[in-house]
Amino acid sequence: MSSLSLFDPVAMGPHSLKNRFVMNPMTRCRADVDGVPTAIMATYYGQRASAGLIVTEGTAPSPNGRGYARIPGLWNAAQVEGWKPVTAAVKAKGGTIFAQLMHTGRVSHPGNMPAGARVIAPSALQLPGQMYTDAQGMLDHPVPEAMTEADITTAIAEFVTASRNAVAAGFDGVELHAANGYLLEQFLSPVTNQRTDGWGGSTANRIRFVVEVAKAVVAAIGADKVGIRISPYGRAGGMAPYAELDDTYMQLMAALAGLGLVYVHMVDHAAMGNPAIPAEFRQALRKAWPRTLIVGGSFDLASAQQAVNAGEADLTGFGRSFISNPDLVERLQKGLPLAAPNGDTFYTPGPAGYTDYAVAAA
Ligand SMILES: Cc1cc2nc3c(=O)[nH]c(=O)nc-3n(C[C@H](O)[C@H](O)[C@H](O)COP(=O)(O)O)c2cc1C
Repeated sequence: MSSLSLFDPVAMGPHSLKNRFVMNPMTRCRADVDGVPTAIMATYYGQRASAGLIVTEGTAPSPNGRGYARIPGLWNAAQVEGWKPVTAAVKAKGGTIFAQLMHTGRVSHPGNMPAGARVIAPSALQLPGQMYTDAQGMLDHPVPEAMTEADITTAIAEFVTASRNAVAAGFDGVELHAANGYLLEQFLSPVTNQRTDGWGGSTANRIRFVVEVAKAVVAAIGADKVGIRISPYGRAGGMAPYAELDDTYMQLMAALAGLGLVYVHMVDHAAMGNPAIPAEFRQALRKAWPRTLIVGGSFDLASAQQAVNAGEADLTGFGRSFISNPDLVERLQKGLPLAAPNGDTFYTPGPAGYTDYAVAAA
């Protein structure tokens, strides 16, 4: 076992990171009603720029992809302008920031979407349960429309436009959100993808949408600017285990490795009530992925350092602890106590529970 300090600089492809700490993507619902980032978002991300890599909150690539209230978008010029102060605030402190592109698919409600947007998914299978809307509170998820061939072509093009917009807004790259039960994972899993055309059925067909999105985005902005997040064995968004799961991810890794993506970000939500990712799967994924591997979920300093020492991860993702500790990296380095996050303000508008967490006293 080698010993690599998490606090030392490290390269991720051509990106020079200050350290091996990744701020996990976290939806915080502080954009405006049109999906334009607000000024407090620049403050928030700037405060956390000592992370080696920041991955933003899930950001909609298109109106159809905007399932939640007040999440930001990257499909129009106003949104690009709104993101510029965010990336500038992070860059001013020498940070690196990728935008997470999250198309919510069926995890959505028209009450959160721009007029004319549609709730779409690989198959017309309703997600059980309800979703919060600002206007009417909790409402049932609708039955999504099964995507037509034209819808699929459009959705791929929307990811491309959003990726170009991300670069124009000053991001170092984009993370394709293929985790947590959103549109990309809805295509991967036979639980949500029951298509009988070329986009469903066999493993090769189920991974095809993700691969085509990745291919198109790589062609548009370059492989060094494209990462992907996956959550194998996760249960978010109505996901469930299936027999071909391991094979699906191994085939996906092979295809993405060939495209040259700069990183894979695997999230293990065992501590959030999901089954743990089996050790054999982790090892197989590590072998199958030739470039930077980020692992995230419920780390503390010791377990993150252990994961890197054991060669299980190159970079380690921290989520909730970054919400309540803007100076998380410094606190961990100095052994200072961590503040606990307040879940009541995770998704509420305004600065409370967002930009008002203090840095540790010197
Ligand atoms: C408030 C909140 C919002 C989240 N939003 C997203 C998101 O937009 N995209 C995503 O991939 N994961 C999201 N997650 C999952 C986190 O990225 C992370 O995987 C999870 O918090 C586990 O890491 P932790 O134990 O260090 O908090 C969210 C988690 C929280 C707590």
